[in-house]
Amino acid sequence: MYGFKVQYIKMSMLLFAALAGFTLAYYNLSRPLFLLLVIGVFVLAGSIAIGRNAWTQTDTEDARAAMMPPRRGGKFSVKVTRRQRNQEVLPPEATVSLAEERRTADIEDVFTALDRQLVGLVPIKKKVDEIASLLLVDRVRQRFGLQAPRPNLHMCFTGDPGTGKTTVALQMADLLRRLGYLEKGHLVHAMRDDLVGEFIGHTAPKTKRVLERAMGGVLFIDEAYYLYRAGDSKDYGQECIDILLQVMENDRDKLVVILAGYRDRMDEFFESNPGMSSRIAHHLDFAPYTLNELLAIGNAMLDRSSYYLSPEAELAFRDYLTIRMEQPRFANARSVRNELERSRLRHAHRLAADLEVSRSKDDLMRIEPADILASPLFAASALSASLPEI
Ligand SMILES: Nc1ncnc2c1ncn2[C@@H]1O[C@H](COP(=O)(O)OP(=O)(O)O)[C@@H](O)[C@H]1O
Ligand SMILES: [Mg+2]
Repeated sequence: MYGFKVQYIKMSMLLFAALAGFTLAYYNLSRPLFLLLVIGVFVLAGSIAIGRNAWTQTDTEDARAAMMPPRRGGKFSVKVTRRQRNQEVLPPEATVSLAEERRTADIEDVFTALDRQLVGLVPIKKKVDEIASLLLVDRVRQRFGLQAPRPNLHMCFTGDPGTGKTTVALQMADLLRRLGYLEKGHLVHAMRDDLVGEFIGHTAPKTKRVLERAMGGVLFIDEAYYLYRAGDSKDYGQECIDILLQVMENDRDKLVVILAGYRDRMDEFFESNPGMSSRIAHHLDFAPYTLNELLAIGNAMLDRSSYYLSPEAELAFRDYLTIRMEQPRFANARSVRNELERSRLRHAHRLAADLEVSRSKDDLMRIEPADILASPLFAASALSASLPEI
């Protein structure tokens, strides 16, 4: 708000200092020396100006836009990306093929990636497909000149940790870019600490910095309910929520916000923040994985890195997961990934224990029960099972 004033004050101070310097030099230096100084200063100032210009010169409009400061009134400087511009409107008697449009948008790769990366999650993949269809039809309508406001694309992903929310959000960002709804399609991950300051005046610049980084892509706010502290009217989280609400409304063609977190806490958050709830168009609920799904995820993870579980090791891993699922801080597929990484360590350690033994390709790929059963979890659970109930 006071930016231009500060700029003028700085400039006047600089000019004043230069004037004082020249006056001093004029009275204290000989004429030729003074002339030399004046020429020197002009050459220096000239080369600095040219140098700065060279640094800021850019070839693309995007790069120039990226360097522009945010526009006043909360607007940010990313181009509008909808396809209706620069496109000829089709005559009413024309026909289009949605399959062709889907191929043109090149979105098949996103679904292939989703299938490759994520085992199961059928309802989520279906929902992503539905959103893609909505946007595809919207694109085709635009080709006929049918005007409609851009659909609201802010989303909420609820589910326990490790159920695939971040992975799907990354693919969603890519999908929206391919369909022309986001210019860059990157994902900026943020939590309360990235957005909310601790002192007065800190929150707005912090939130705006994150928003500026996310423009043209997806802002993924993990555990979004921590932004709001019920009963604490002085909490700066509310300031952040207010800015987010404004940007989610005014810049919805440049930014998609995805709020993520546990289902029940998110429900409470929406109850206390109806403004936020009304701006969310799509809710995707990520169910916790069943034991069989976790096993399938584990096998897929191992397969991707050219390992596999022997049949006995698979039984041991099933036992491991059965115990782990009941424990605190269980994080679904993330816990599977972490344990498999530890069993790879044990596998390597087992093989390296006898360096003289020759190893086959299969030895290098096969995880044995010992690599699983050495987990401290088994010892701890045996101990707790042997303790008398109180
Ligand atoms: N259905 C799944 N199939 C395979 N891997 C998965 C699946 N769900 C999650 N993962 C893996 O688990 C890890 C954590 O997933 P992530 O998307 O970060 O979960 P969240 O954001 O819900 O905590 C990632 O390595 C991800 O690839
Ligand atoms: Mg996550």
